[in-house]
Amino acid sequence: MSSNKSFSQKTAIEGVRHILVVGSGKGGVGKSTLSLNVSVALAKLNLKVGLLDGDLYGPSLPRLTGTLYLKPELNQDKKLLPLRRYGINLLSMGHLVEEESPLVWRGPMLFKAIEQFFRDVSWGDLDILVIDLPPGTGDVALTIAQKVPVSGGIVVSTPQNLSLVDTKKALNMFHQIEIPVLGVVENMSSYKESSGKDVSLFPKGQIDIYLKEKKIDKLAEISFHPHIALSSEAGVPFLESQVDSKEAQSFFQVARKIKSHLFSSN
Ligand SMILES: Nc1ncnc2c1ncn2[C@@H]1O[C@H](COP(=O)(O)OP(=O)(O)OP(=O)(O)O)[C@@H](O)[C@H]1O
Ligand SMILES: [Mg+2]
Repeated sequence: MSSNKSFSQKTAIEGVRHILVVGSGKGGVGKSTLSLNVSVALAKLNLKVGLLDGDLYGPSLPRLTGTLYLKPELNQDKKLLPLRRYGINLLSMGHLVEEESPLVWRGPMLFKAIEQFFRDVSWGDLDILVIDLPPGTGDVALTIAQKVPVSGGIVVSTPQNLSLVDTKKALNMFHQIEIPVLGVVENMSSYKESSGKDVSLFPKGQIDIYLKEKKIDKLAEISFHPHIALSSEAGVPFLESQVDSKEAQSFFQVARKIKSHLFSSN
């Protein structure tokens, strides 16, 4: 896999103190939703936050933030300026290319594009840059880990064993590429019926047993909330519209754990 040589070439992003990556083994488990809402929560906890959509082939940040037709501007040094929304700096490949144009890139082009997101963007003075990864254990995570120092990684999973298999792969990948795992977020844990009763959406798997055995922290359990899906469609983060909900508090819980993990000695 990666050689020590490539790891020694890591260079920090100008102005950025910590980089946090959000990954998952499976697709569609809620990485982008979590990345956005936790970024907004971190900003509400008084950190300076950037969010990079690392899903170059299937960017979703422009839709999630209602910034689909906005184009980032260049500064005097010809560096891209991230968009500013909901208290965070945002940038996605979807802000640079048309939404429906497929990117048919091979490895080296992907490598170059990621490099540009790090070196040709004026991210500004940031406490933390959150990177929403594509699903699986592919090139993007590896490339990021080779290019920049990553302070921590979070893996998003749904509760069932079918997802756990892939979650283990994602955790193992982080381990192999030397990204410290801050913990796992279990998303869509349960659903509250109109009667008020909590029901499981997926059969409860052995995720808790596995995490305990591996001494990995479960950062939060986030329930299924129809407004989370609705806010994705509306392009407004759930945290902005439903800040008092139990689910919003779960996003805050994850943000607080990240903050205390990365900034406790400051
Ligand atoms: N807790 C939740 N409650 C309700 N809907 C949710 C929840 N979490 C995510 N969703 C919805 O599930 C869908 C998939 O979420 P999202 O795009 O964040 O997943 P992803 O892991 O980033 O997917 P991909 O692997 O394609 O990048 C979205 O429509 C989102 O609104
Ligand atoms: Mg996504």
